[in-house]
Amino acid sequence: MAADQIIAVMGGTGSQGGGVVDALLERGQFGVRVLTRNVQSDKSKALAERDVAAVEADLTRPETLEPAFAGAYGAFIVTNFWDPDTRSNETEQGMAAARAAKAAGVKHCVWSTLPNCREISGGKYEVVHFTGKAMVNTAVRDAGFEHYTFVEAPMYLQNLTGMMAPQPVEDGGTKKAWAIPMAADNRCMHVGDVHELGKLVARVFETPEQNGQGRYLSMAAGLYSWQDLIDELNRQGHDIVYNRVSAEAFDQFFPGAAELREMMEYFEEYTYFGPDREAKVAAANELVPGGFTSFADWARANMAP
Ligand SMILES: NC(=O)c1ccc[n+]([C@@H]2O[C@H](COP(=O)([O-])OP(=O)(O)OC[C@H]3O[C@@H](n4cnc5c(N)ncnc54)[C@H](OP(=O)(O)O)[C@@H]3O)[C@@H](O)[C@H]2O)c1
Repeated sequence: MAADQIIAVMGGTGSQGGGVVDALLERGQFGVRVLTRNVQSDKSKALAERDVAAVEADLTRPETLEPAFAGAYGAFIVTNFWDPDTRSNETEQGMAAARAAKAAGVKHCVWSTLPNCREISGGKYEVVHFTGKAMVNTAVRDAGFEHYTFVEAPMYLQNLTGMMAPQPVEDGGTKKAWAIPMAADNRCMHVGDVHELGKLVARVFETPEQNGQGRYLSMAAGLYSWQDLIDELNRQGHDIVYNRVSAEAFDQFFPGAAELREMMEYFEEYTYFGPDREAKVAAANELVPGGFTSFADWARANMAP
């Protein structure tokens, strides 16, 4: 594999793409280019110091995409549902990016997708930020790439210190609580350190013959229940309790809560990665020597009591 082959990484200034950039640089087989809306941002400038070119591309302006992919051997594509400019257009944006990559001559496309909750549940659940990504899959498959691969990111462990961090209980002490509309003991959440998605994606680009024929690879450190997470954290010195709340109460907690509540209902019935989870998770683990960091190890390093 020639070192001058370039992988164009969409979202390379973000969580998933950032991990992809780091893993590609660490392994050194490919040059790296990042697609960003702002080539002057601090993140873009920091990438330049690592020999990563930042080129302008904006999913809301499809005409910017093909020039940004031009000359690249591979493309990692991720869309950001939570960006207000993307939310209702995620499927169209993902499809446009795949088409642009093909038109630009990209040989291997890696699309960051998620399960099709609508199809899996026979229409019971939509979970727009999952199904909207899955609906891009056929466009990636049919675009005519020499190689294409579907990767699925788990529920980020980083959520547990960010938007889903346990909240202090007003008892004057250190106790915290998770208020969630799910059964505490349902082991249905595939979780992992999002940064490690990059290890998987780098290996995929290195092995197009084995992994670039439409394979599905799901990255996960394991399958956990909320109680599993709490038990581990409490072993590590935390004092966290679980409060099961009603769907109606949860929906009022923050903007976008209803979307996450529906996602959790889907998890409870089908698990995060859905019915074909075992093969997809095993395939990803086989590809990454040493696998992915367990929740216990991640928590020790990232969640001090
Ligand atoms: N949180 C979870 O547990 C979880 C699990 C699985 C999947 N996901 C999915 O992950 C996706 C977000 O990925 P992330 O967490 O890596 O994102 P992130 O860390 O929030 O960063 C967003 C990235 O998207 C880029 N971006 C945003 N809007 C763009 C646009 N219009 N055109 C081009 N680039 C754009 C940003 O680049 P610039 O700002 O530099 O332009 C940035 O690199 C979401 O769709 C979400 O559904 C999340």
